[in-house]
Amino acid sequence: MFEPISITREIIGDGSSLLLCGNGAGELPAELAAHEGKVQCVYIDPPFMTGGTFTRRRRFGQKGWRTGSPAPEYPAYDDRFASREDYMVFLRGVLTNAHRLLSPTGVLCLHLDWRASAYARILCDEIFGEDRFLNEVIWAYESGGRARRHFSRKHDVILLYAKSRKYRFDLTKVPLERSAVRRNHMRRQVDETGRAYRSIRSGGKEYRYYDDTPVYPGDVWTDISHLQQRDPERTGYATQKPLKLLDRLLRPVVQPGDMVCDLCCGSGTALVAAQVLGCRVLGMDMSAEAVLIARSRLSLRDMAIETPCAAPARLEATYTPEEGVLLLTDFRAEHPSFPKTERAFDRLESWSAGYIQDGRLVTLQHFHRSPKHPDLPLMCVLPENLPNLAVQTVDAAGRKSVFSWK
Ligand SMILES: C[S@@+](CC[C@H](N)C(=O)[O-])C[C@H]1O[C@@H](n2cnc3c(N)ncnc32)[C@H](O)[C@@H]1O
Repeated sequence: MFEPISITREIIGDGSSLLLCGNGAGELPAELAAHEGKVQCVYIDPPFMTGGTFTRRRRFGQKGWRTGSPAPEYPAYDDRFASREDYMVFLRGVLTNAHRLLSPTGVLCLHLDWRASAYARILCDEIFGEDRFLNEVIWAYESGGRARRHFSRKHDVILLYAKSRKYRFDLTKVPLERSAVRRNHMRRQVDETGRAYRSIRSGGKEYRYYDDTPVYPGDVWTDISHLQQRDPERTGYATQKPLKLLDRLLRPVVQPGDMVCDLCCGSGTALVAAQVLGCRVLGMDMSAEAVLIARSRLSLRDMAIETPCAAPARLEATYTPEEGVLLLTDFRAEHPSFPKTERAFDRLESWSAGYIQDGRLVTLQHFHRSPKHPDLPLMCVLPENLPNLAVQTVDAAGRKSVFSWK
């Protein structure tokens, strides 16, 4: 029989990457503070001081994951600060933590928009030093509505600051495809050796731009679009950023094996991009549900995850100790948003199995739905006669439960 227990900590492998539910602007928990001075890149995409609230849409059940059909909407996070002063206190907290965590070669990327970027720039000058400023990247896009009483505000601002003069930044890691660079106004020619180039004359001089020499991004990026409604990357988290954007920010700064941190990680985009580049990650978010969305996107190898148990779900399963076979037979979770469904397991979005050791769940197997794999396996093979067997579930509203086998 499986009985609900309250276990907040999950460990997979050596637990050297962290994903925690907590306040990125407050005092850092000891295990995060242990990385002080060792993080190569901190990306922060905090609330922008919009005065609004944001939602997350979650697909429901096998059909929802297969077709992307009606996804219930839940609150994600609140971006309503009582005043600009309150917002700046929050921002100061996150930036101070970021500064502490960064290594001497490290770089901060702070993602904001027109609402707070000017104030944040001054705060960064104060915390990092004016001479540590590297860039104000303008990420311009076309999506969203159009203004009538002023020009449409169609860009975000990403401030880059170095921790010290020894910062690492290799622009050659992000060459652009030449086709992406507009040189329409230049004449295309071929030189005496057969190399194609475009040229322009200015001040009596000819400037040649060869097709086979790389070009690199400047600080205005117009070639990365916001995620579209049906983008396969989309998790339903309202302010999710595109992986391509994070790849361009991280690639010049990090090397495989480096540590990358996001103190307001949301759906985990920066962490996913960092893992793709071979980095370890430290992620934090106030919202447990955001952390669980990030968990479902990440490679969980060598990860420690801390999230509260939030759902009083019920699980029925059988475990055959002599064969190590675990079979889920029923799952119950209630939420007003859940459609009435015949299939109990539609309410289950992901699960993992392992054992309890020192008050933590040591995960051995984990499964979650994805557009490619909408069907959730309900059986797994664990070591035979596994003591302290436990199962963790996340329901379709993004709430975690843990059960131990009695
Ligand atoms: C703009 S979203 C981040 C989106 C993310 N970059 C992504 O691609 O999904 C801002 C996030 O900051 C989180 N947040 C707000 N206040 C926070 C705090 N004090 N500490 C940690 N996270 C916080 C919110 O829960 C939200 O997930």
